[in-house]
Amino acid sequence: MKLNIIANESEKAGTTALFFVKKSVQFSAVLSEAGEKQVESVLESMNDGPFEDLEYLEIDGRPTLFVDAAKERGLSNLDHLRMAAYRLACRSMKKQISSVSLMLADCADEQFKAILHGLHYAEYKFDAYKSKQKPNFQVTYEIVAGEHTAAFKKIAEEVAIENKAVVLAKNLINTCAADLYPAEFVQNAKTIAKYTPGLSIKVRDMKQLEKEGFMGHVTVGKGSSHEPYMVTLDYKPAKFNSKDHLVFVGKGLTFDTGGLCLKPPKSMPEMISDMSGAATVLAAIQAIATLKLPIHVSAVCCLAENAIGNKSVLPGDIFKAKNGKTVMVDNTDAEGRLVLSDGLAEAGEIGATHIIDIATLTGAMVRALGYAITGFFSNDDDLALKVINCGEACCEKFWSMPLEEEYADALKDKFADLKNTGSDAGAIAAALFLQEFVPENTAWAHWDIAGTAFTTKKWKYTEYGATGFGVQTLIELAREMSLN
Ligand code: BES
Ligand code: ZN
Ligand code: ZN
Repeated sequence: MKLNIIANESEKAGTTALFFVKKSVQFSAVLSEAGEKQVESVLESMNDGPFEDLEYLEIDGRPTLFVDAAKERGLSNLDHLRMAAYRLACRSMKKQISSVSLMLADCADEQFKAILHGLHYAEYKFDAYKSKQKPNFQVTYEIVAGEHTAAFKKIAEEVAIENKAVVLAKNLINTCAADLYPAEFVQNAKTIAKYTPGLSIKVRDMKQLEKEGFMGHVTVGKGSSHEPYMVTLDYKPAKFNSKDHLVFVGKGLTFDTGGLCLKPPKSMPEMISDMSGAATVLAAIQAIATLKLPIHVSAVCCLAENAIGNKSVLPGDIFKAKNGKTVMVDNTDAEGRLVLSDGLAEAGEIGATHIIDIATLTGAMVRALGYAITGFFSNDDDLALKVINCGEACCEKFWSMPLEEEYADALKDKFADLKNTGSDAGAIAAALFLQEFVPENTAWAHWDIAGTAFTTKKWKYTEYGATGFGVQTLIELAREMSLN
């Protein structure tokens, strides 16, 4: 797509798109009196919702598309706009409309941002494995911005950076495990660090991990022919206001067979997405560095493949985690929390004041909240509120879950300090397990994105595959915290 942000409408503009909510146009279009009457009667003639988008009515002698910005159920006003823009862009590409004008002179900044994200989402497709790739039809969007022109140009640059990060995360997540194993993920991270000014990288291989006692990675990764890695990326701008050091920790299981506690075959292909947390934190820090946000941010990617081999961890095996606690592996399929124990320790070692870990951690969370909401846990009310608010600004839904102490006893083991499975409340048990590895005096939030990272049926802007969930909220959190 091409964006043309201009103050006043150009004469050779093609199709006009009007967003409407209920029966009125959302952003006041520049129409003649007759045109306005015509629009009114078109909207009036529609049955009471849900409205169908209309194609090509002649208004003021110009082809005009009506786009319903209140069509779906359960979305915020901003998300409605994103969806409307997404549908508009899908339709424009499909019908090969080369130029579309949007009259946005009275559109607020965050609304414009939402519209842009919607347009970008429509461009995404993952056809790397198709024998023939078809490029998208190029649509030029003429954004008539009036006095917002300069501000909108800046927003468009920022949204392009954010979208690039979302695309990066989606591509990594959608790539199959034969092509994206831990060492290959490391190569991607190295390339990103090399081409992103201000971003440095530290890589630990199996030997180094073992030497330093990061035994979660070793325990999970040793059964695979692909060795585990831990990658720490660091972005420390020359100038920053905030004293906070925000550290993201991502679960990066490039594939999760379940190990010897083998998963059933039906849902196994989806486990290519079990590295979504690591992809999300890598993408987010790339964008944060590119945007030059004035805050110290790091990202830890915990990379391993949970496979079956003659060296695989056996149920009942006990290992000593980085913080000294011993863990009995009760179930080899509860592997994410083991690598994350190392990631949390690493976050503490590099001086985190705030940690966000993000992981496709439990099937229990999928059953609790489904595919539209990420359940999260936090030991800090202020951070929890920020997560919810930043999520809302990015049209990503979060729901705060309890770290219920009553269930903590279920994690106790007869021989070891802890075991890796616990109470029936599976998502809570996983969070309580992680809490055992959170460095002292550190604000922490754990996002369980098992339901939201990957979709097997059409959901909002995604037909099938990675949704990119979380990338934008992480960037927004860094932006918000950089203001303090
Ligand atoms: N990667 C899975 C969780 C998952 C499930 C992600 C569905 C995406 C969709 C995780 O490693 C896992 O297998 N968790 C087990 C834990 C159990 C054995 C305590 C689960 O949730 O079943
Ligand atoms: Zn698992
Ligand atoms: Zn897993």
